Amino acid sequence: MDLYEYQARELFADHGIPVSAAETVRSPQEARAAAERLGGRVVVKAQVKTGGRGKAGGVKLASDPAAAELTARQMFGMDIKGHTVRTVMLAETVDIEREFYASYVLDRAAGTFLAIASAEGGMEIEEVAATRPEAVARIPVDPAEGVTEARAAEIAVAAGLPADTAPVLRGLWQVLVREDALLVEVNPLVRAADGRIVALDGKVTLDDNARFRQERWGESRRDSGTDALEAAAAERGLNYVKLDGEVGVIGNGAGLVMSTLDVVAGCGARPANFLDIGGGASAQVMADGLAVILSDPDVRSVFVNVFGGITACDAVAEGIVRALESVALTKPLVVRLDGNSAARGRRILEDRAHPLVQQATTMDGAARQAAVLAHAE
Ligand SMILES: Nc1ncnc2c1ncn2[C@@H]1O[C@H](COP(=O)(O)OP(=O)(O)OP(=O)(O)O)[C@@H](O)[C@H]1O
Ligand SMILES: [Mg+2]
Repeated sequence: MDLYEYQARELFADHGIPVSAAETVRSPQEARAAAERLGGRVVVKAQVKTGGRGKAGGVKLASDPAAAELTARQMFGMDIKGHTVRTVMLAETVDIEREFYASYVLDRAAGTFLAIASAEGGMEIEEVAATRPEAVARIPVDPAEGVTEARAAEIAVAAGLPADTAPVLRGLWQVLVREDALLVEVNPLVRAADGRIVALDGKVTLDDNARFRQERWGESRRDSGTDALEAAAAERGLNYVKLDGEVGVIGNGAGLVMSTLDVVAGCGARPANFLDIGGGASAQVMADGLAVILSDPDVRSVFVNVFGGITACDAVAEGIVRALESVALTKPLVVRLDGNSAARGRRILEDRAHPLVQQATTMDGAARQAAVLAHAE
């Protein structure tokens, strides 16, 4: 899960990284009051979980509280790369002398963490990285060793950062480790005119697998709105990922579900989701899965693809029949049962004879049927 800048900023402050004073607001009136408390001259920053806000008009200077109110008014409701601005942060302005870049990221390919840092931070960092990669230092960090004082000093030297950024480099590593993050980034980290080093923007991506021990963010996930379906699925303990298409997919086993997505795509349709109901495939899991998929307004048909292994197909069919008692089926369902006890499973569904449920004997055939149904008017 990505955090908003104002949340990343809180974590930075908790770990001793200097940040500029700031407040988050939900209305233009609040913006004016906050600007007054922050000394009048502020930076008004749209809180959206996407990069490049500044260039999109989401970061503006306001010279006094009235200007802050006006700027915030223009920012609320603004669309930045598909993200609507609902929260605005006002930050005390810092007189910037130089901008640096610092981050830690899990490099899965290399099987280690990387410190990425540059003396040329700011809004053009992507450009710098693309055209002059030598200006961006990439230094592996051994997770067992972490970023000691000595290591932080080495990173600073390698990136051409001033020596007094080392405490920030250590603090940032603490954020990564203690808060279970996969990415922490400060851009820009600045040298202020008065000599201080200050983090002016932050990005943190938390590891969802560690969510159970990071209670603090439980609520913000739910109220983010963007992933309501994923949140509903997570509440039911389902292994669900929302995708862009129109064919809902339910399968048992991650590998089978992945290949089901491919087969659906091969039929000229697009899968609406990934949903692995796992080995058990009980009536409850089937009902929960169906409920989530049917509540997705993009879904036009649903493809249930089950290969019975340890779980027999008749048990799965019973699960589907019982799920149909608790879930109002509003979209056509194509079921393909194969493997252990497939014949018995198919008979159970035939006997139930639900008008919106049809069966197919092969995975390809079922995918074609689901695709046709999704595109039928
Ligand atoms: N508190 C501040 N005081 C002075 N200048 C600031 C302040 N915050 C940001 N800026 C300036 O605005 C620029 C853009 O701000 P910021 O880094 O927060 O947004 P962004 O980089 O465009 O957004 P993103 O990081 O989401 O791509 C900074 O590089 C910095 O020059
Ligand atoms: Mg930035």
